Amino acid sequence: MNDFSISIPASSANLGPGFDSLGLALNLYLTLHVTAADKWDIEHKSPLLPAKTPCEDHFIYQIAKQTAERHHKQLPPCKVVVTTDIPLARGLGSSASAVIAGIELANQVCGLSLSQEEKIQYGTDIEGHPDNIAAALLGGVVITALTADNQINWIHLDDLNVDVIVYIPDFELKTEQAREVLPENLSREQSTAASAISNLVVAALLSGDYKLAGKMMEKDLFHEPYRAELIPGYHDIKLEAKNNGAYGTVISGAGPTMISFAPKGEGSGIANHMQRILTDYQVSALTIDQEGSQVRQVHIK
Ligand code: HSE
Repeated sequence: MNDFSISIPASSANLGPGFDSLGLALNLYLTLHVTAADKWDIEHKSPLLPAKTPCEDHFIYQIAKQTAERHHKQLPPCKVVVTTDIPLARGLGSSASAVIAGIELANQVCGLSLSQEEKIQYGTDIEGHPDNIAAALLGGVVITALTADNQINWIHLDDLNVDVIVYIPDFELKTEQAREVLPENLSREQSTAASAISNLVVAALLSGDYKLAGKMMEKDLFHEPYRAELIPGYHDIKLEAKNNGAYGTVISGAGPTMISFAPKGEGSGIANHMQRILTDYQVSALTIDQEGSQVRQVHIK
């Protein structure tokens, strides 16, 4: 086996009302360097990652093992060095990127020849929703639907003509906790209005009407009204970003990070302004990753 690396982008899910359906990939990356070895070893080389975890308890290893077992294979021992610039439990898809890492690791070392459909299916079986998984795998922007028969259909777009700004607070919020505050049911009136808003976001994004997209992104009824209270400064960040030219600002995934779309060329200026005000947040102008998960052979000289 030749040494190889796998890199997987961060992702932002929902984009407001596209709850569990819309996702986009961002240019922060989880990277694995994989080498054949006598026994399994996973090393962390990033300040964002916890101290070393025993291999059998490591999330990426467990996903890889589970993926291999689905195909009646055993993982050959490897040394894996993990680096990342995706902050954990912040709503930037760190767990989806780790799931894709595990699936791709098994795919490579066991020669599974998995299709993109299989990877999205396996990842969604683990995460429960395809939004981050599809974005992390495919890059760009994805519109997904997981239907009652457990099928996943999607449309993939390479890019949007917008700048992206993220506001990353200095605390974690687990997705399970952010899902617990959501109501079990919505009335017919609520769900009709919520899906109409979502329809319009997608139509506006596809037709390049980003002003309308941003306006409707901020009108979500599926999750934002319930999660807002988990994010200090939620309303102020939205207002300040809008006053400074952003199209719209929403919770990234389950939060606590928030994300704005802004006119192309204005992202850095808005990010600089917002950083001066939001001293407790890391504010960054990011771009939409268009490549998704990548496997590269490492050539040793
Ligand atoms: N769509 C998911 C949610 C993304 O909002 O809960 C986070 O996993």
